[in-house]
Amino acid sequence: MKDVSMEKIVNLCKTRGFVFPGSEIYGGLANSWDYGPLGVQLKRNIKDDWWKTFVESRQDMVGLDGAILMNPKVWEASGHVETFNDPLVEDKETNKRYRADHLIEEVTGIDADGKSLEELEALIKEHDIKSPDGNELTAPRQFSGMFETSAGAAEEGKQKIYLRPETAQAIFVNFKNVLETSRKRLPFGIAQIGKAFRNEITPGNFIFRTLEFEQMEIEYFVEEAQWEEHFDKWEAARMAWGKSIGLDMDRVSGDDHAPEKLSHYSKKTVDVMFDFPFGRQELWGMAYRTDFDLHQHQEHSGQKLLYTDPNDNHRKFLPHVIEPSFGVDRTLLALLVSCYDEEEVDGDTRTLLRFPAHIAPVQVAVLPLSKKPELQQASERVLKIVSSKWRAEYDETQSIGKRYRRQDEIGTPYCITIDFDSLDDHAVTVRDRDTMKQDRVPIDELVAYFEGKF
Ligand code: GAP
Repeated sequence: MKDVSMEKIVNLCKTRGFVFPGSEIYGGLANSWDYGPLGVQLKRNIKDDWWKTFVESRQDMVGLDGAILMNPKVWEASGHVETFNDPLVEDKETNKRYRADHLIEEVTGIDADGKSLEELEALIKEHDIKSPDGNELTAPRQFSGMFETSAGAAEEGKQKIYLRPETAQAIFVNFKNVLETSRKRLPFGIAQIGKAFRNEITPGNFIFRTLEFEQMEIEYFVEEAQWEEHFDKWEAARMAWGKSIGLDMDRVSGDDHAPEKLSHYSKKTVDVMFDFPFGRQELWGMAYRTDFDLHQHQEHSGQKLLYTDPNDNHRKFLPHVIEPSFGVDRTLLALLVSCYDEEEVDGDTRTLLRFPAHIAPVQVAVLPLSKKPELQQASERVLKIVSSKWRAEYDETQSIGKRYRRQDEIGTPYCITIDFDSLDDHAVTVRDRDTMKQDRVPIDELVAYFEGKF
């Protein structure tokens, strides 16, 4: 496994326009990040590929785009208002706050996830754990991860509502609508991509843990008796997708949660773990949510959410659910770590991102060798040809060597150079990012050449 530092990744993201610190000109806002021109394109490519793989190319999947703000009763029914908490301890001197389970794990190496407040307090006492500033800690208490806001124009009569902590609930509350309009039969799934918000006690590690992030979630509805079979299929499907987008599979492993670590809705959870530069951490989750959510919403709303089986005497029942859940931002970070590389070339260090061609923010760069008008005109013609099919960028600044380096750093798989010979032989030079090999290709054959490559 290559050694990649977060410092290099964060620096590349800032200098090349993938990710900027949020609200930077006002001194920033802790743990908020803005995606720049290349970052937003990379994010879009990840989401589009996910949607194509799991929704568009399957007959058993449909999509949904639910509202972020929902009736607060949704979150009472789902159990989030009561149980979506993390254990918090406070430094008695500085009042800085920490997640008790994370602090215990950092100091002792003990996995304290899912332990009760009493167990956490006992561990803190037993190991004499202090805050990172060396001060006494308060006893652990529960802290809600739900972001609250209010709706309504007048101060009086304002309603307390929540920013959704997961996209999943919009899928459950629309189960009946989707079932009736799409007329899907079990097993089938509903997918959604969108923002989620969590008041994390210890956000950090760049875009790994933030208060605002994006999720790509699937609720896959099945007969109870078939849940294990579908769980296994989704495990294989998410691994295959991870590999296809360029994740370094040597960094990927699974974490089957022990019963005490399960969320309130889950009977089985297997996370995909990724070896980030700051340690092995959850990349994606997958839970068997049973019929917990549909059952809760049926009870709380008073609406029947039953499925009628047309093949079994119109038997009515609540389907069970497998939920593969992917964080967009964590996927993007894992991809940067996977694709980042450095090599020595002619005594110089060449930095590159080895993105697969379908995921790279820029797929082809068009680089005239000089700014002479005749080369510019020829280059514009080439740009028109390639940009009708692929994400292309035109760059005529700086030396050709520096332009190649910049394209390597942003992960562009192919650069086309137009030189003075191009005006006579109507051919261009195509340079491969990974091998740095160059091919002379007639302009008329460029589309066929790249179709063979992409
Ligand atoms: N609906 C299930 C659910 O939300 P989760 O494991 O809490 O499960 C799913 O979250 C995924 O969302 C995680 O695996 C991770 O990729 C992403 N995620 C969760 N919290 C995050 C945060 N604070 N910042 C960035 N991504 C986060």
